[in-house]
Amino acid sequence: MKSNSNTWQFIDTEGTFRLENPHHTSYLYFPLVNEAGMMAAITPTLNGDIKTDQNTFLTLPVSLEDLHNTRSARNFWVQIEGATPWSVTGNSAAQTAQRFSETPPEKVTLEAGFLWHQVTRENTVLGLRAEVTNFVPANDDHVELMQVSVTNISDRPIQFTPTAAIPLYARSADDVRDHRHVTSLLHRIFCEEYGVLVRPTLSFDERGHLPNDLSYAVLGTDGYGNAPVGFYPVVEDFIGEGGTLDWPEAIVKSSGSKSRVGAAHDGYEALGGLRFTEVDLQPGETVSFILILAILVEGTEPQKLVDSYGSVVTFARTLKDTQTTWKNRLDTFEVTTGDNRFDLWLRWVALQPTLRRLFGNSFLPAHDYGRGGRGWRDLWQDILALLLMEEGDVSEFLFGNFAGVRIDGSNATIIGNAPGEFKADRNNIPRIWMDHGAWPLLTTSLYIDQTGNLDFLLREQTYFKDHLIARAQHIDTEWAPKQGTDLQTAAGETYRGTILEHILIQHLTPFFNVGEHNSILLEGADWNDGMDMAPDRGESVAFSALYAGNLQKLSEWVIALAALRIDQVELATEIMPLLDTLGTAIDYESIEAKHSLLADYYESCRHTLSGEKVAVSLVDLAQDLHTKAAWLTNHIRTTEWIENEAGYHWFNGYYDNDGQQVEGDHPTGVRMTLTGQTFALMGNIATAEQALEMVRAADQYLLDPAVGGYRLNTDFGEVMLNLGRAFGFAYGHKENGAMFSHMAVMYANALYQRGLVREGYKVLAAIYQHCQDFPISRMYPGLPEYVNADARGIYNWLTGSASWYVLTMVTEVFGVRGRRGDLILDPKLVAEQFDADGNATIATIFANKLIEVTYHNPDRLTYGHYRLQSVSVDGEPVAVSTRDGHPALDRGLLTGHNRKTVIIRIELAGQI
Ligand code: G1P
Repeated sequence: MKSNSNTWQFIDTEGTFRLENPHHTSYLYFPLVNEAGMMAAITPTLNGDIKTDQNTFLTLPVSLEDLHNTRSARNFWVQIEGATPWSVTGNSAAQTAQRFSETPPEKVTLEAGFLWHQVTRENTVLGLRAEVTNFVPANDDHVELMQVSVTNISDRPIQFTPTAAIPLYARSADDVRDHRHVTSLLHRIFCEEYGVLVRPTLSFDERGHLPNDLSYAVLGTDGYGNAPVGFYPVVEDFIGEGGTLDWPEAIVKSSGSKSRVGAAHDGYEALGGLRFTEVDLQPGETVSFILILAILVEGTEPQKLVDSYGSVVTFARTLKDTQTTWKNRLDTFEVTTGDNRFDLWLRWVALQPTLRRLFGNSFLPAHDYGRGGRGWRDLWQDILALLLMEEGDVSEFLFGNFAGVRIDGSNATIIGNAPGEFKADRNNIPRIWMDHGAWPLLTTSLYIDQTGNLDFLLREQTYFKDHLIARAQHIDTEWAPKQGTDLQTAAGETYRGTILEHILIQHLTPFFNVGEHNSILLEGADWNDGMDMAPDRGESVAFSALYAGNLQKLSEWVIALAALRIDQVELATEIMPLLDTLGTAIDYESIEAKHSLLADYYESCRHTLSGEKVAVSLVDLAQDLHTKAAWLTNHIRTTEWIENEAGYHWFNGYYDNDGQQVEGDHPTGVRMTLTGQTFALMGNIATAEQALEMVRAADQYLLDPAVGGYRLNTDFGEVMLNLGRAFGFAYGHKENGAMFSHMAVMYANALYQRGLVREGYKVLAAIYQHCQDFPISRMYPGLPEYVNADARGIYNWLTGSASWYVLTMVTEVFGVRGRRGDLILDPKLVAEQFDADGNATIATIFANKLIEVTYHNPDRLTYGHYRLQSVSVDGEPVAVSTRDGHPALDRGLLTGHNRKTVIIRIELAGQI
């Protein structure tokens, strides 16, 4: 149902937005978070949970469908004698009953910015306006702060009784259904001077029954720092027999006794119920209350939090600091084009990689799976944007992550919180995602090009070791947890190999790990986590294409290393057979030969490595990699190219578990995937002619303007037990044919890389247009993971597509990218991306400077019709050199001074 023609509007130059009647749209939620790990979601009616990890939820864990309930909403009641009780957060049964009224008595407005949320609710019948502001301070505290300011907008004095009512769940998310009641018996509830604290005796979760040393609290003051006058610490006492949290007896009947300071209640569901002193509000006057929703580690005094935040002055100061922190962070990436709404929307997209770093994939209402932590591919891809937005050296992050690589080319899947911390998988269903090996090279490639630091490839790092060997096909029975998770040599020393060696192994083992069509086996799945039911005979041609492109890139790196005046690199002896062309070359057409070579390799490194290394000539190594890349490219190009009856051509991306080609004509309809095209383009498998054919096919079969662009696949029309769970999902949802932003943006990136600029722009523009069209997408500014069958943007905030959108804007659309440390300027902007004065500007981090690059195109020519005429740096004309056939500035032109910001201005003129 699309009845809402309302939309959000940006109200300043930072990206703050306003939305009228936000509560008239379901499923909206906004993230509040800090680096210390306090994570919260908040809806227009202040529903949403607050937590620090899976085992530490301050309020009830919620999933999307819980957002319509009021049971866990932050609530604050205003009782005026003789009037219906009023919830300033919209959570009363009376307000719900008015929801579809033709003449709603309340006007509700949302304003939100980086990273705060404010809902204003005006009730003209009562004569009150309430402004409720929430944020998580950008500091080390595990608190969410909430200020309720009530203004008398009538012309008469109003007396009311204010009561905060925030249910305190205070335990592990595991207990929502499993032992929900029993775990309430663990609760020890105390009324202290400023609020209600719950300190469970034990924590029940998957780790067992552990003594608990955390306290969960709702503290509060009036705006001057005065404490509440009484408490409702127990849910059942507050709601009364037969009552509910949105129609509680204590409020509706003004009944029930309040607890006083010092009261203790053991073994009940707790409530942060805080009664403040009666208010007598004159016309025009405002009264404020501050609530501090906190998770306290042992020894933290509630008083300290009250001192820090418990008045309107400290609240305002902390809010300002928080806004400044986020602003400074986001100011390192900004674009100015002809479309101001787009420019500010993109600021929200740029926030998203940071949000995923902080939330992982488990802690927002749509992300109701997993127990925290991040996936391997997400770990690497989120760094893409950080490399373009964060000042300082990101290389330690990258370096640390390589410690997760196993010697069989797979990787650890349980990622710890500290950089480079990986854990052995306790899961008894080991799984290998065949795409995992490909992502580190992409991120490392960006790093090397941005910095010129090829030396990074020669740094030595450990390998991850656990019981899984041979890409999880076998168990190393000699390994035991006490041996630790670093790969050892036979002599019992920790083995270290270069980063180059790690990346080599990540590509060489897949190269040989092929299925019966000689493409790389799908194993547990590839990028599409839903392709998880073809572990025996499934093949991912799509990612074989990416591996092929990567092998070629690796070969070029190796050649470039020679320029560092080194001729050889050392590699573990065991790896040498994988470089078969340097010894006994095998026939790549022979699947058996590949399997046998791989089996021997796995055997040679099953428990330890010898510790011996061999020096390999860079030239020979590059040649071996090039041979493999060329073979795989040619193999895919010639054997996987489809022509269907209707005369369309594209690449097949998959084989199913019965060894059947997935894509092409089929009795249930044409089968095509976007993934199969994206990486064939990106990996340079497709020739220029093929690329155009693929776009034609994608436009025919996958493009659907109603959902914001290109769908992930056509409707296969059956459940596909021989391919994956994705095809059990209803068509048009998530990994079964939704407009899946991540793949769509990577498709756009690939099109730009291949010079198909109009085509790439079309993809990026369609996604943006859809997202910003609130009545249809019903989402706040930003990118969703996907657009569902109903055109709604869903799984908001946490998506790898954000990183790729930023990457594509910087390195392709604006063409501002490093090439071994120098700065290429290769704009692929189309006419409508320049403003009225013919300018398009981007700010990004390069060479540890904030560079602000403006292309001036006075005639607003479109891509293909302009060329670089002249370039100035900080007002001085500079010489332009050439890298890879593109105009470039030597790095020295940017780094030769101490200024933090560099202004680069480029004059564009018509092609001669
Ligand atoms: C999510 C996952 C990503 C996975 C994709 C497809 O995408 O995070 O790892 O590859 O689904 O299964 P995202 O939400 O990052 O866009």
